This record gives sequence, structure tokens and C-alpha cells, in this order.
Amino acid sequence: MQEKYIDETKQGEAFAIAEKPENSKKLFLESYGCQMNFSDSEIVASILNEQGYNTTMKVEEADLILLNTCSIRERAEQTVRMRLSQFKNLKKERPNLTVGVLGCMAERLKTKFLEEEQLVDLVVGPDAYRDLPNLLKETEDGRDAINVILSKEETYADINPVRLGGNGVTAFVTITRGCDNMCTFCVVPFTRGRERSRDPHSIIEECKALAENGYKEITLLGQNVDSYLWYGGGPKKDFDKASEMQKATAVNFAQLLEMVAKAVPAMRIRFSTSNPHEMTEEVFRVIAKYDNVCKYIHLPVQSGSDRILQKMNRQHTRQEYLDLIKKAKEIVPEIAFSQDMIAGFCGETEEDHQLTLDLMRQVEYDYGYMFAYSERPGTPAHKKMEDDVPADVKQRRLAEIIALQGELSRKRMKSYVGKNYEVLIEGESKKDKNQWKGRTSQNAVVVFDKVEGHNIGDFVTVFVHDSTQGTLLGKAI
Ligand code: SAH
Ligand code: F3S
Repeated sequence: MQEKYIDETKQGEAFAIAEKPENSKKLFLESYGCQMNFSDSEIVASILNEQGYNTTMKVEEADLILLNTCSIRERAEQTVRMRLSQFKNLKKERPNLTVGVLGCMAERLKTKFLEEEQLVDLVVGPDAYRDLPNLLKETEDGRDAINVILSKEETYADINPVRLGGNGVTAFVTITRGCDNMCTFCVVPFTRGRERSRDPHSIIEECKALAENGYKEITLLGQNVDSYLWYGGGPKKDFDKASEMQKATAVNFAQLLEMVAKAVPAMRIRFSTSNPHEMTEEVFRVIAKYDNVCKYIHLPVQSGSDRILQKMNRQHTRQEYLDLIKKAKEIVPEIAFSQDMIAGFCGETEEDHQLTLDLMRQVEYDYGYMFAYSERPGTPAHKKMEDDVPADVKQRRLAEIIALQGELSRKRMKSYVGKNYEVLIEGESKKDKNQWKGRTSQNAVVVFDKVEGHNIGDFVTVFVHDSTQGTLLGKAI
């Protein structure tokens, strides 16, 4: 399993690290969903660290349980509801225990949560984490507490995230928050608010601090990193209103990427997620120019049919997407791509579905994240379109997309066999303690036998001698 939506096994896993020895209260913090949530949890842990809480992995000893939740598909919400129900007995045994819901579900359901889930005391949306100390005081006084106000400015730029449960090698650095794109199927613009970019200086500072602390790879995070635009603060939408001076000194994503590449030359840099309609040639040129910028782009497309792309409000055509891929391959010949795909969106026909399969064959993605369409309340698709593809048809189309991706992945992985790659060691292979696991610049997972002298966090040249659908098998040289 590739890690875009964090390793499936880590979904809902609580993370803990040694923190302030003087802290006496215990926080059990679980994250669900995308990388952004995991990154936000590090901000939350940092804020609560200052309030006397250290994190714990044992739910039984927690004074405060927080779930950082995801609303992207119905299934994600069901998972959280089930998890909450497991806390019922704990709450009975320990009346002082506080249970809170953070993130996208908190934002989407607001006070409904307090009404529907009797055991929830605290509901906090993604832009309100600075208010946690006040909200906790309210719960201590026996009141339910809620803050789901979305902000046009909040980027948590000055908060130094506590690095939770990581390998000490790879870290996330948030560069934008929110999304203005309004893809018709997507709940994110409603749960995470307007798009805003973080001050490049605070980003560079954070990257340098990570480098000093031994980190070797950072992933710049945002719903659409390519849309990054810093002009002194405020929502991207208000850029038009910026002064001439602000406009002249604005920083776009390609420029930011170059700044980071130069600031931490010994670190690998990745970024996620890209949106095809905002991706520029300038970004490809920066990828090509800097060895430390990884030769890999996660470029969700959702569908290969123009008719469906239009209904999804994706802002680009099939041909424009294919042209973009072609351009990237010209400028960065060793580039690898992955996709997100939705099967069975409103009005999708067999012909549309075939166009999706055909586009996948043309691009030859290394891997993908594929989903059956799940209608989300309040989205434009929910309001204006009919979720009319029967569940069994959605599932069959999804299965065909997944099967084709399997074929493509095997083919792509095979193309790496017989060559040397620089691999960053991220940890031990789960299957075999005598092997390391790491990734190439193209984000392909490589496992290889340990040899004397190598450690987690080392860059090693590995000869790839074999491959499976998801993994390269190699030998350190
Ligand atoms: N901008 C970010 C977040 C998008 S959500 C990104 O592109 O990664 C991640 C993926 O979830 C989307 O690309 C889409 O493929 C999928 N998704 C979003 N809403 C969905 C829905 N209602 N049903 C099924 N899949 C959905
Ligand atoms: Fe969602 Fe589209 Fe934004 S998928 S996060 S609305 S780019």
C-alpha cells in the first residue's frame, strides 16, 4: 500500500511521543483520512502540549480522547461513528474523561454531533484548534464546547508541530489550507473553507528545523499545492485586491518549491496533492532542475471522460490532462505518476467508463487511489445531480479500474528492474526484519537485505533485480 492516504494500517492508530516531563494529563489522539489530518494532529498535539497534556497510545489512561475525522466518503464517517461507540463504556467508568471530535466531520455536522452522539463533549473544526485551551476549560466546567468557525487567514504558521509517531525521517509540512475548487462531488471546500497559503519564510524555517533534527524527506501538503500563492496573507480569492507591491513580490508554487529545494539541499522534497488545472510547466522545470525534488507527481484525474469531467467541475479536458502528462514526461523523462479515480459518478455511462480505462492505459500510472462515488450531503452534485449509477455497477466499474491499475503497476514496476536507484531507508520491512524498506525518488517502495553500516535515514544505492505489483526487490551496492 502506497502512502498517500497514510498506510491503511495507520488509519485510526494513535500516535505518541515522549514530551514534556512536567505534563500530567494524557491525550489519546487518533487521526483518520488524508495526510492533512495527520499533519493537523501534530499541530493539535503541540497546542495541547502547552496545556499540560502528553500523548498516550493507551486509551484506558487518557484524560482526553480526540478523534481527528474525515468526511470524504460515507464509509470514512461510519468508521468514526463506530470508533466513538467503543468509548461508551470508558466514559461510564471515568466520568471525567472528555471526548472530542476534530476535523472535517466536526465541521460538517457541527452541533448535530453533540445532539446525536451523547458522549461527545467537544467539537472543533479545522481552523479552530487555537481555541482548544478555552474550549477545554468549558468542558471542565461541565459544558459542551464547540467552535467550527472557518477562517480566511489561519495557517498555524507559527505553531511548531510535535512530530507524532513518525520514523524520524519523513515529515509533512503544510503549505496551503482549504480549497476553492468546488469539484461537485467533494465535501472539502465545505469542511476546510477558503484556500489560503502559508508564509514562505515560516515554511522554509520549518524545513530547516526538520533538516537540523535529522529528517531526510519532507512532503509539502495542501489540497492543491499548485495553487499556492503568497502575497502577504489572506485568501487566494482576494489576490485581485492586493496592492501592486504585494502582487510584484508574490510567490507561486514553482517558486516556493525552488526556494525549499535550495534551502534544504540534503533533503528530498515531495508535494501533494496537485490539481491538473493549476499545474504549470514551471513546476516541471523545477522538478527537473533539482536532484532533491522527487520525480513523482500525484495527479488526480477522477475520470477520463470530458462529459463527466465537466459535470465534476474539474476545469480541464481529457486532452488537456494528457497534454500535461506528455509535457511533464518531456521535461522530466524519469517522472512517475499516480492517480485518484472515481467510479460511477452521476450520469456515468459505460462509454464514459471505457474512456477512463483508456486514459489510464495512455498515462500508465505507477499506482492509484480508486473509489466508488459516494454522495456527500450539501455538495453541488448532491443538490443538482442524481446519484443514478446502481451500486453494483459502481462496484463492477471500480473493480475494473483497480484490476487495470494492477496491470499497469506491474508493468511500471517491471520497468525499474535492472537499474540502480537511490533509496531513502524509512524503516524495517514489515515482512522481514532482516530487510530494509525505503522508496525511490519515483515513490516506488523498495525492499532489500540489510548490510553492515546502513541505518534508517540513510540514502543507499540499490540495484533492483525483481518486482511485484507494489514493490521493487533490490540489493544494496
Ligand atoms: N484535493 C485533494 C483532496 C481530494 S479528496 C486531493 O486531490 O488529494 C481525495 C480524493 O478522494 C479525491 O481525489 C477523489 O478521488 C476522492 N473523493 C473525493 N470526494 C469523493 C466522493 N464524494 N466520492 C468518492 N470519492 C471521492
Ligand atoms: Fe476536493 Fe476538488 Fe478541492 S477534489 S479538495 S474540491 S480540488
